[in-house]
Amino acid sequence: MRLGEDIRTLEGTLMLDARTGAPAGADSSRRGGESTRLVRGAVMLERGRIARVEVDERTPIDPRRIICPGFIDAHLHIPQFDAIGHDGLTLLDWLNDVIFPAERRWEDAAFARAMAARVAKRLLSHGTTGICAYGTVHHEGTRAAMESLAAAGLRGSVGQVLMDQSAPDYLLRPAAQLIDEAARMERVGRIEPIVSPRFAVSCSMALMRGAAKLAREKDWPIQTHLAEMLPECELVERLHGMPYVDVYKQAGLLGRRTVLAHGIWLSEVDRRELEGWRCVIAHCPTANRFLSSGDFAGQKFRPLALGSDVAGGPDVSMVRVARAAREVWLASLQSQAAPMFGPDYWWWQITAGNADALGWSDAGRIAVGAAADLVVVEPDVELRSAGSDAAALGQLMYGWDERWIAATVCEGRVAWTRGG
Ligand code: GUN
Ligand code: FE
Repeated sequence: MRLGEDIRTLEGTLMLDARTGAPAGADSSRRGGESTRLVRGAVMLERGRIARVEVDERTPIDPRRIICPGFIDAHLHIPQFDAIGHDGLTLLDWLNDVIFPAERRWEDAAFARAMAARVAKRLLSHGTTGICAYGTVHHEGTRAAMESLAAAGLRGSVGQVLMDQSAPDYLLRPAAQLIDEAARMERVGRIEPIVSPRFAVSCSMALMRGAAKLAREKDWPIQTHLAEMLPECELVERLHGMPYVDVYKQAGLLGRRTVLAHGIWLSEVDRRELEGWRCVIAHCPTANRFLSSGDFAGQKFRPLALGSDVAGGPDVSMVRVARAAREVWLASLQSQAAPMFGPDYWWWQITAGNADALGWSDAGRIAVGAAADLVVVEPDVELRSAGSDAAALGQLMYGWDERWIAATVCEGRVAWTRGG
């Protein structure tokens, strides 16, 4: 496969959403079909979409070539990719000392454009084709980055960050200016704007209300951070005089198109309330571990999404994020005998599950009509094809090596190849 080549057919072992093309009576109903399975088959692509899926249930799967839906990262920060790995700090100090200076570099829109092009390649090389991402507070820089991400073939939502308090002056803008700039954002290719108040620490109530109003007027989604670390929650209560969830509720930020990153320090009552609003929680297990933020206990929250949270999370690969999510779940049970949330589930989460959570019904799955965003994986280990799918999916997840990715296809076109 050559870079830029239009692909018509891909044959091999398909990673399917368990609900897609399952034979009658098959056990695909675990947790309402939140699962993947591997099956021999072929995908035919036309004009950037999946036109046909052929499935051969009788031939054993061929582990040497697996066609996966492109992975979706439901929470990450594009300007933070050069700041991965500064450990030893907790959230608020890390933001001040490492992250805010890194984001300052996007004052220079040319730098932001070049950096986003670099990041896009990196994402594609790890099989990520869909993103829900933050830019910076800089309007021109974020716009330029959106153009680079779209040109690389990625799909997703990218937002200019809104912040008007409790951060270095060089990243703060008046609320009215920020709302005005954010309102001028436009879709570029497959990258749409998302309203992005950073978190309640760095936003005044006026700014958050303005953000909520903008999202309603434009029918744009919203993303922010929620309850990532205890000192952050305490600071929010001090600044706004009410609990964290109430701040976002008062601001009008909660709703079915709102993605809340982390959501660690929530009570069961908070979680029920957020489910009532149909908000998405983006669980970021690698970031929670890197910043020692706390143990996430909301695996059963719906809708759930999974995010790398680069640079909070050091891993670009959504497969590694999925594996970390699996490990966090197992640690919470202190038992390996955990039938729920196995690898088959987490593969589903980083593909169809994240797509569903973000409202992208035509992404994250190998199904007729879906966007032809695919990853061609050539593992160099023998998968136990004779055993259950779950065993093979587990081997694929734990043995995962980015170098197995032969090509990443966006809208039917090769956007990245191992050969370069
Ligand atoms: N909370 C507010 N901003 C950020 C950020 O950039 N990264 C993480 N992990 N948490 C945040
Ligand atoms: Fe984040």
